[in-house]
Amino acid sequence: MHFIGIDFGTSNSLASLVSQNRIEFVKFPDGKISNPTILYFPEKSKQHLIGNEAVYRYLSHLEQNEGAGRLMLSIKTLLPEANFDHTAVIGFGRLTADDLAARFIGILKEYAENHFSRAFDGVVLGRPVNFSELALSRLENAAKKAGFKEVIFWLEPVAAALAHEITAEKDELVCVVDLGGGTSDICVVETSPQRSMSADRENDVKAVGGVNQAGDELTSRIMKEQLAPKFGAGSTFFSLGKELPFPVHLIERLSRWHRINLLKNSRDIGDIAAIARSSDRPEDVNRLANLIKHHYGFELFQAINDAKEHLSQNDRAFVKFKPLNLAEEICLTGFEEMISPVTVKIEQAIRETLRAAAVGPAAIKRVILTGGSSQIPQINQMVIKIFGAEKIIRPDFFSSVATGLGYVAARKK
Ligand SMILES: Nc1ncnc2c1ncn2[C@@H]1O[C@H](COP(=O)(O)OP(=O)(O)OP(=O)(O)O)[C@@H](O)[C@H]1O
Ligand SMILES: [Mg+2]
Repeated sequence: MHFIGIDFGTSNSLASLVSQNRIEFVKFPDGKISNPTILYFPEKSKQHLIGNEAVYRYLSHLEQNEGAGRLMLSIKTLLPEANFDHTAVIGFGRLTADDLAARFIGILKEYAENHFSRAFDGVVLGRPVNFSELALSRLENAAKKAGFKEVIFWLEPVAAALAHEITAEKDELVCVVDLGGGTSDICVVETSPQRSMSADRENDVKAVGGVNQAGDELTSRIMKEQLAPKFGAGSTFFSLGKELPFPVHLIERLSRWHRINLLKNSRDIGDIAAIARSSDRPEDVNRLANLIKHHYGFELFQAINDAKEHLSQNDRAFVKFKPLNLAEEICLTGFEEMISPVTVKIEQAIRETLRAAAVGPAAIKRVILTGGSSQIPQINQMVIKIFGAEKIIRPDFFSSVATGLGYVAARKK
């Protein structure tokens, strides 16, 4: 049986395999080794798309007025949601959380098979540390529906540690801090170059921990805490001679881009149009109406994400979105205030994981800091404060988990 490693991330996914002692990543059609975990169901076609291809096709359909179809991001976060049963997608039927993940993983499997010119019937799938039984069984179903006969799960931070120990010289107690899009995962593990190829590493994993908040949550905080007024939050309007505050439920829908679509119903659209007519800030309320009408949610959130990422290198950034006449400056100190409750939660999770492993920070010889969100200065400083700068190593933020999974997959054959 041939296995492939898959890091099915909330934001980005990769497939990998060690071949001739070297890690090799599957290339997506755009030539990249990592693509966003995005699914697109076009309105006028039976064929769904994933990754950057999905994004390009979605945007071109919008531009050419060919119908928006359904673009879906962060599908991994649907797996633990017990309340999510299915979503109806025009032309594709009722899709459950595992159907959605299967649609993504199935195409990635095809890419992998083309890349390595062989069929894969087994998969080594990364999984977050905090992942319910429900989430796990849905992910397993998804992999099976995608055509894999055998599914092996590997904790994502343990995979990142494995990628490190392959090149290490001696046994070390390591703390992995993997801060991605959907989850912040922490793991204390004894790495060992000798044992790295052995099948059972359970004794080496001293403790795992984490929180279900990471990069997506930080992006959504920028929307809620800084940009929402640009879409009417805090404004007032008149109804039946009374001055009323802008409805909170409309603003709540703004916090995640896909929820904006839920405002595309005739009642909310009608309400927003009526509010705009008597608003003290009609320009902002009309901006909300345009956001909904033109399906700008995805692009707006991309612009917020870009600004967030820019702040990892600069002390100010702009959320620029011309179609909505938006150019909002975010300064690093303001951003840090917005995200500090999340940073505190991640810090607590790190300290709890150390406690569960019955070690103090001094006993940790090395810290593997990875995942896209680990680049945020405040978060980076927090990790340095706990462990000291000299212990921290930063493997490639986006491929370290997939590298470990590729090693495990090669071993399984
Ligand atoms: N330079 C940067 N500064 C801040 N955040 C960044 C930067 N680059 C990427 N990110 C954020 O990192 C997150 C993606 O990281 P990553 O690819 O490690 O996540 P993932 O593996 O898909 O998610 P998860 O592991 O939670 O399932 C996104 O929220 C993205 O906005
Ligand atoms: Mg990840």
